[in-house]
Amino acid sequence: MLISSFVTLSLLASQASLALAKANLPPIPADKSTPIHQRLSLTAPQTISVAWNTYEKLAKPCVQYGESESSLTQTACSTSSVTYKTSRTWANSVRIDGLKPATKYYYKIVSTNSTADFFQTGREAGDMTPFTMVTLADLGVVGPDGYTLNGDASKRDTIPQVDPSLEHTTISQLAKSVADYEFIIHPGDLAYADDWQEKTHNQGDGQNAYEAIIEQFYDQLAPVSGRKPYMVSPGNHEADCIEGGYKLGVCPQGQYNFTDFMNRFGAISPAAYPSSSQNAAAIANAKKARSLAVPPFWFSFDYGQVHIAMIDTETDFTNSPDGPGTTLDAGNFGSVGQQMAFLEADLASVDRSVTPWVIVAGHRPWYTAGSGACKPCQAAFEKTLYKYGVDLAAFGHVHNLQRYAPVYNNTADAAGYNNPKAPMYVVIGGAGNIEGHSSITPRQSYNEFAYNDSFGYGTLTFHNRTHLEVKFINSVNGSVLDQSMLYKEHKDNFVNQS
Ligand SMILES: *[C@@H]1O[C@H](CO)[C@@H](O)[C@H](O)[C@H]1NC(C)=O
Ligand SMILES: *[C@@H]1O[C@H](CO)[C@@H](O)[C@H](O)[C@H]1NC(C)=O
Ligand SMILES: *[C@@H]1O[C@H](CO)[C@@H](O)[C@H](O)[C@H]1NC(C)=O
Ligand SMILES: *[C@@H]1O[C@H](CO)[C@@H](O)[C@H](O)[C@H]1NC(C)=O
Ligand SMILES: *[C@@H]1O[C@H](CO)[C@@H](O)[C@H](O)[C@H]1NC(C)=O
Ligand SMILES: *[C@@H]1O[C@H](CO)[C@@H](O)[C@H](O)[C@H]1NC(C)=O
Repeated sequence: MLISSFVTLSLLASQASLALAKANLPPIPADKSTPIHQRLSLTAPQTISVAWNTYEKLAKPCVQYGESESSLTQTACSTSSVTYKTSRTWANSVRIDGLKPATKYYYKIVSTNSTADFFQTGREAGDMTPFTMVTLADLGVVGPDGYTLNGDASKRDTIPQVDPSLEHTTISQLAKSVADYEFIIHPGDLAYADDWQEKTHNQGDGQNAYEAIIEQFYDQLAPVSGRKPYMVSPGNHEADCIEGGYKLGVCPQGQYNFTDFMNRFGAISPAAYPSSSQNAAAIANAKKARSLAVPPFWFSFDYGQVHIAMIDTETDFTNSPDGPGTTLDAGNFGSVGQQMAFLEADLASVDRSVTPWVIVAGHRPWYTAGSGACKPCQAAFEKTLYKYGVDLAAFGHVHNLQRYAPVYNNTADAAGYNNPKAPMYVVIGGAGNIEGHSSITPRQSYNEFAYNDSFGYGTLTFHNRTHLEVKFINSVNGSVLDQSMLYKEHKDNFVNQS
């Protein structure tokens, strides 16, 4: 969400160099090859990309891997080690191809100071094994530069380790329940490093405060994102130089125009998977989608029973809220109409006999309680989601948890959860960040759940080709806040409701 009350802090940039000591910059390890900010991504079928940062440029980033922890016999390397002007770290990435699907591998980032961890590879399109995935958004740093809660340290697990003093309820809960889900999608707003001025002790620190928060956040996320594929798309906070009145001319480079976001996720996000369908039009449409995708902004992937498209609600469509010339002045990342053409081709390519379920995720919702609905987003995307029978759409931006009955054009689908034509919608922006919660009133009649009492996230469990279970989880203790089941017949291989 965007904070609307701006404070004028126009002298900040000039003061930045005078106040370095204030920023809580993480200590730089003596061994600068030490991997930090580990994150995994599904980049293509039978592939996992491993990314991590270091406090030095790596000439040849490498990862050793194998199916047994004691014999990491294979090695994958790249020359991908990138940074930007105001960053202290380099983002390294290696793509590991030719892996068996749905298989546990051990991996060790090659460094004189690293340890082995493990991941499970993605499920092949059409693998009907039931599984659960997590969906969350608007997750920020915890600690002196972000929010804190008075948590109970005894409730937290130690493997993977999340420092209990951080009281990071959502990341702790995701770490604690890491065996219960297979991957995470996070459509926008990571870290909230652009909110550095919200803490008075940061004021005057400029880019150091920004970099301190972004480094702390990815340190905190690593126990989860280094174990599970962590799929992201952009939110306004990835391009925000305006909160607190911090103007474009003096904005740290990472904070502007999705620079840090692209640096971390550009090389590891997928475009679109080749079609697993026998249908010639599906194969051609998937190929077209692949050529129009602009990861990490808009892209898609398949995972077992589900096809997931991640969209960019910030730039690259008519009246997009953060496009060139808007307050945030970001993008564009494709040619005119490219994102919409991608989405059309991508959704048209989905053969429901292979992947019965279709999910779309983006940052800004058009159905939400309280304020924050994105009308241009609705105008741009809603028809396409309906036309291709998208089953569920997940959005963040508004800081709470909400469930909408299937709805189209602001009218509830009369079928409800029993084989509707319209998508079901959820808002999963309640993961927790320095800006706190958003109001849950007023609510439309078809808003069936709205919660802003503590932080939480959503889980989607794909039982089989007809049943999708949606839950909201309370990050404080893992309890289920809300539970629903969507039934879809999925009898047509290709849905076209135009
Ligand atoms: C080795 O890595 C750990 C974290 O993984 C870090 O705390 C430690 O400082 C590193 N050691 C050196 C010598 O850099
Ligand atoms: C943002 O970055 C993209 C890609 O690098 C570039 O094409 C675009 O012009 C930039 N937008 C602005 C407003 O600088
Ligand atoms: C949406 O609903 C409005 C009335 O609320 C109607 O005028 C319009 O034609 C509808 N649009 C579509 C695409 O069904
Ligand atoms: C939660 O929602 C209620 C009802 O809309 C509102 O009164 C309250 O201020 C919200 N809490 C926060 C922290 O925004
Ligand atoms: C699909 O899953 C639901 C929920 O677990 C179950 O009730 C239903 O019987 C399953 N359908 C089939 C065909 O197995
Ligand atoms: C979980 O925490 C909430 C407060 O956030 C509390 O209302 C609920 O009773 C707790 N549930 C369990 C099972 O501990």
